[in-house]
Amino acid sequence: MGFPKGFLWGGAVAAHQLEGGWQEGGKGISVADVMTLGGPNKPREITDGVVPGKIYPNHEAIDFYHHYEEDIALLAKMGFKCFRTSIAWTRIFPNGDETEANEAGLKFYDDLFDTLHRYGMEPIVTLSHFEMPYNLVTKYGGWRNRKLVDFFVRFAVTVFKRYKDKVKYWMTFNEINNQRDVNTEFTAFTNSGVLYKDGENRYEVLYQVAHHEFVASALAVIEGHKINPDFMIGNMIAHTTLYPLTPNPKDILAAFDEDNFKNNFCGDVQVRGEYPSFIFRYFKEHNIDTSYITEEDKKIIKEGTVDFYTFSYYMSNCVTVDENAETTAGNMSKGAKNPYLKASDWGWQIDPDGLRYTLNLLHDRYPHTPLMIVENGFGAFDTVEEDGSIHDDYRIDYFKGHIHAMKEAIEDGVPLIGYTTWGPIDLVSAGTGQYAKRYGFIYVDRHDDGTGDFSRSKKDSFYWYKKVCESNGEEI
Ligand code: BG6
Repeated sequence: MGFPKGFLWGGAVAAHQLEGGWQEGGKGISVADVMTLGGPNKPREITDGVVPGKIYPNHEAIDFYHHYEEDIALLAKMGFKCFRTSIAWTRIFPNGDETEANEAGLKFYDDLFDTLHRYGMEPIVTLSHFEMPYNLVTKYGGWRNRKLVDFFVRFAVTVFKRYKDKVKYWMTFNEINNQRDVNTEFTAFTNSGVLYKDGENRYEVLYQVAHHEFVASALAVIEGHKINPDFMIGNMIAHTTLYPLTPNPKDILAAFDEDNFKNNFCGDVQVRGEYPSFIFRYFKEHNIDTSYITEEDKKIIKEGTVDFYTFSYYMSNCVTVDENAETTAGNMSKGAKNPYLKASDWGWQIDPDGLRYTLNLLHDRYPHTPLMIVENGFGAFDTVEEDGSIHDDYRIDYFKGHIHAMKEAIEDGVPLIGYTTWGPIDLVSAGTGQYAKRYGFIYVDRHDDGTGDFSRSKKDSFYWYKKVCESNGEEI
């Protein structure tokens, strides 16, 4: 069987992690612009505005704003069929609450999408990827405020209209589910511009935020289809696959519950158009008032279901009731360590088989919805040899395993339509703000100490992924 004809091979990035040019073309300050450099054991600091003397890696990122023609030409050499990026909301509406869009920002993306088409690449665009206008945080309290729904829909409609003939594939909120953990202040801020207040019921805040985002996402889908009925508008879920650590039925139930609330809740709302029954028990147990879910909202959510389901997959984790079990880090959330798996230097467990399992689970859950993997990749320290070469076999091995798993899942009957690796060109890590955590097939000479001239070079994985794209996955 193999990969279907027209399968979308490519790579994915987010505006704030590669563009730089944080004050160019009338761009406003985003939430990413007030987050400092962190490290593996040093959380990024969220500062009160931009504070002189602090290091903000996203301000310059990899300066894609000035290098995009060169970068797209390089990606095209690998045979990319598509390129996923986000539109920085702050380039279009610098403060988020204006009524007039910023023409210079719109023009930048016109040029970007035209360049992609010139090289035969389909743009895949995320509307909100951890980079909302900072003004919406300070003035409105982020997504806890219902006014954000209108601001977001205005932004979505503006870009849908402008790019209706240039962009077909869209997604609304990146990793909408990764803010489910009330103990992680980081994701509440990056995703939704929420800063917790002392003593408030964080669960209530987060679920109200999620509800506003569900309504905004559904309205965007509804409006988008009016503008171009051929649009494919998807959701985006951070899928960390969860296994029970042991056969203890308590672990099995704990994994089942966590999977429902971390992975399935948001997908169910956005694909099936209604809140799943299991979440109401959770609401009750955490004293969450749900009176904000109106009948009108329910209708919107039912009408604005997504056209395809997209997700990120980096790793799996285990779940256990044993409080003394060894833990490991992960993509925005921790889990119990799996004794059968190796992990990256950042503790992310490498599990290609988990991808086949996940694709099958998702297809079983949403049988009529095409699936796309929009992030998968391996963050690692790379070494540049004296002759400039970079031998990243570890990255090639990671991808080989995952692409093989995709092939198996397609054999299983899963309707997978595309695959974009995370960070085909090195960029700023979202979690740590580091350059040192590299994902790319293309190396960027830029370092955490601010040195480097932003020059680009090809790693071994560049030549390997080129074969994959050009052979439609036959040669891995
Ligand atoms: C996903 C995000 O969570 O993981 C990306 O959508 C992010 O923005 C990616 O970069 C990898 O995470 P990190 O922390 O290694 O950059």
